[in-house]
Amino acid sequence: MRPGPDWTIPSFHIARPKDIPALRDHPVDGDSYAETVQDHGPGVCYGVVGRDPRIVEVISLVHKVAASNATAVLLEGETGTGKDLVARAVHLASARKGKPFVEIDCAAIPENLLESELMGHEQGAFTGATSRKTGLFELADGGTVFLNEISELRLDLQVKLLRLVETRTFKRVGGVEEMQVDARIVAATNRDLKVAVGQGCFREDLYYRLNVITIHLPPLRERRKDIPLLADHFVSRLTSQIGNRVRGVSDKACGLLCRYSWPGNVRELRSVVERAAVLGKSDRILARDLPAEIRDPDAASRAPAVLRLTEDGIDLEGLKRGLVRQSLELTGGNQVKAAKLLGIGRMSLRRKMKKYGLCQMFSPQLRKDAGNPARPGSQGR
Ligand SMILES: Nc1ncnc2c1ncn2[C@@H]1O[C@H](COP(=O)(O)OP(=O)(O)O)[C@@H](O)[C@H]1O
Ligand SMILES: [Mg+2]
Repeated sequence: MRPGPDWTIPSFHIARPKDIPALRDHPVDGDSYAETVQDHGPGVCYGVVGRDPRIVEVISLVHKVAASNATAVLLEGETGTGKDLVARAVHLASARKGKPFVEIDCAAIPENLLESELMGHEQGAFTGATSRKTGLFELADGGTVFLNEISELRLDLQVKLLRLVETRTFKRVGGVEEMQVDARIVAATNRDLKVAVGQGCFREDLYYRLNVITIHLPPLRERRKDIPLLADHFVSRLTSQIGNRVRGVSDKACGLLCRYSWPGNVRELRSVVERAAVLGKSDRILARDLPAEIRDPDAASRAPAVLRLTEDGIDLEGLKRGLVRQSLELTGGNQVKAAKLLGIGRMSLRRKMKKYGLCQMFSPQLRKDAGNPARPGSQGR
């Protein structure tokens, strides 16, 4: 397959296991992971931490799926629950691990470019197509394609994806040749796809094809017992990565972490722990190092619906940050919708996310997930 001269791999599209530091150098301490990956041999782990039965079940499913010849897997879960991590785990646990892992964020690539990104195009297929382009499916041959935010995929591309999943064939844009490709599709969504089907935004046939094997990532608030384990994991990782002096979390701080509802899930926990570990002054994370909403989770619900300025003044920046954050929580991190809720443009929202330190928590493009490769279409965003 893949005739043509452009067999070059843009490095930002492709990750081989050794290029994914988050997976290569992911020391997972304690027995939490060992309990679930013993069958993978010593020293081999995929960075998924958790003792909760639902996480143990997730890991067991990862192994089953990885060993199977299933062509498609669906990962469902709120933002920050570990879908990226699990997608990579499926790849690394499988015989495909030496082949490319190609991640595509369907929400990040402009609609008009997505098809040629995925399928490639022939020379002259459209204005500006000066040479043949190899698509990402083709580049992933033998490996895994991770389609993130699959619910954002246009309906006509959903038809093409269905065909690819069923027949493992596709055509380049402007091409007539049937291309064969052997790539496993791992699709992820933080929307309920069934609802999207009901609303006519997602094809039912593709939904049922993807839904054959679905892995649900539980929200952190439904597995609170894992919170101390995860917090310790992030602390020790920071210590080994940047030599941070912090050695653990105080009992009081840990109690607060366990009580909080974590709308941003594990990503939010990681941010909070890392921030506290870097900015705190003690060798343990203390209650005072945590953000106000965690120290006093009821404060938000006590906030008045109508604000009235008094002589005591208000923390305007804090309020703005709170609103930006709420907009992202309400929309599951969808920046277009969040910007709409706030009545501002998307670029303005992104500037505010940067200003208020919310990028890592909510932005798949800007977070530095321990060396995630940048995604197609994300440059300069
Ligand atoms: N079970 C877990 N164990 C360890 N780290 C996790 C776990 N789940 C999520 N994370 C971490 O939380 C952050 C967000 O996870 P990610 O996979 O990007 O979530 P999602 O794709 O669902 O938004 C990443 O830094 C990831 O490494
Ligand atoms: Mg993700």
